[in-house]
Amino acid sequence: MKVFVSPEEEIFFKAIANSIFALVKKKPNCVIALPTGSTPVGLYNELVKKFEQGRIDFSKTVFINLDEYAGLGQSHQQSYSRFLRKHFLDKINASEKNILLFNGKAADLNEEAAQREKFVSASGIDLALLGIGENAHIAFNEPGSGEKTRTRVVDLTASTIEANSRFFSGKGDVPTQAITMGIGTILKAKKIVLMAIGAKKADAVKKMRDSKPSGDIPASFLQLHKDIEVYCDKEAGALLENVLPVELNGTKIYFEQNLPRGKNIVFISPHPDDSAIAAGATLSMLAKNNNVFVFVMSSGHHAVLNGEDTEKKIALRESESSAEAQVLGTTPVFLRLGFYDNGEKNFVIDRQRLLQEFEKAKPDIVFLPQERDTHPTHAFSRRLAVEALAKTSLHAELWNYETPWALFSHGTFNAITDFSRETLEKKITAIKSHASQTRRTRFDVAAHDIARFRAISIAEQILSDFGENPLKIRGYLELFAIEKK
Ligand code: F6R
Repeated sequence: MKVFVSPEEEIFFKAIANSIFALVKKKPNCVIALPTGSTPVGLYNELVKKFEQGRIDFSKTVFINLDEYAGLGQSHQQSYSRFLRKHFLDKINASEKNILLFNGKAADLNEEAAQREKFVSASGIDLALLGIGENAHIAFNEPGSGEKTRTRVVDLTASTIEANSRFFSGKGDVPTQAITMGIGTILKAKKIVLMAIGAKKADAVKKMRDSKPSGDIPASFLQLHKDIEVYCDKEAGALLENVLPVELNGTKIYFEQNLPRGKNIVFISPHPDDSAIAAGATLSMLAKNNNVFVFVMSSGHHAVLNGEDTEKKIALRESESSAEAQVLGTTPVFLRLGFYDNGEKNFVIDRQRLLQEFEKAKPDIVFLPQERDTHPTHAFSRRLAVEALAKTSLHAELWNYETPWALFSHGTFNAITDFSRETLEKKITAIKSHASQTRRTRFDVAAHDIARFRAISIAEQILSDFGENPLKIRGYLELFAIEKK
């Protein structure tokens, strides 16, 4: 089960919509099962918008619904058929013959259920979209439902009646029975995508992924499916560890909750202050759940403008780095590599030194200056790191970072980390620890403005719809280009 957590639900709706477009394009007559409820409304809006922009043709797609209240006809205000038509099906070019919705008022609901099973056996389901109940029901498979259950008439539990009473004038008006596709029926879908929004779903989502599959937690049977993706907002995913970032048009969207955990991380910092300037926010978030080592490659003494004594300058810059590490929660490793004073002739010795440090730290992730960073100290440090790593048996993921000397241009990054004002303050404090440098150049101001600029312009950069309906990233960003080695 792949669980993606996103800072905002708009982001995952866009990601799911993109995968639906890809499916419909590849297989125009695919079969899609649709949920009702508060959760999928944003997805339907996104699909309708794309349809109105002429980007997708649903005329051959077959739509079925997951469930329906028993006793409510298709035109009833609260029927699931009406909901799906109102929010989605009547707004796109779905063909009436391809809309197969339950009739909750059918004379024989068991026959209605049998028809659905027959249809699913013959046509299959390409994609089942799901929500999840607070009691971990999927469709209307309430606790007690078995793994092999088929489409059938079920009794609703008191908690579901309570949760859904918000749509009716009172609890007494909520039907007590429903017709629902079974868990076994849903598990037959080629792909399943489940969405969860809000703190009320956090417990159900946690149990769905982390407890042993059982009828007490109907959604836990989804663990048995080979191709299931779960998308949560930060509240619904709050109790989970080890979750993935949502990917939108090839860009991974990280924030504190979905960053890697339990890893060894090395940051190649050509000068003592590059770590804070380039990635202070990301490093401070990573340091909470990982071992983060900052390899300070050069002593940086050339950039201390006052005084004559080189040793004192080195000591000053290292003490500034130690202060930065206190703020960010990282561990500095001072390498004082000879290339900084002697250039190319020190390459082999420096590479050997770095190699030893890599062997000690055993990084799963290495941050390094991006390839287009032409600042000589940055470029040399990158080359050393790449060549030293190549001589180890480590398989580290490389997170290339940008600096004020070399910002990423369009299409050259593939990950962002979204962070709060509080984390930004930490980054700024870390940069200001390097007072010998901020006295020269206001790197703190530059880093603040780059983080803001990135947040403001990101929708333009990674969405195909040119900033229309911009992502709700209201904070600050750092950008990376991640490569697997
Ligand atoms: C509805 C359905 C239900 C809902 C669940 C969550 O078709 O299948 O399982 O997905 O009750 O409802 P909301 O989204 O309203 O919280």
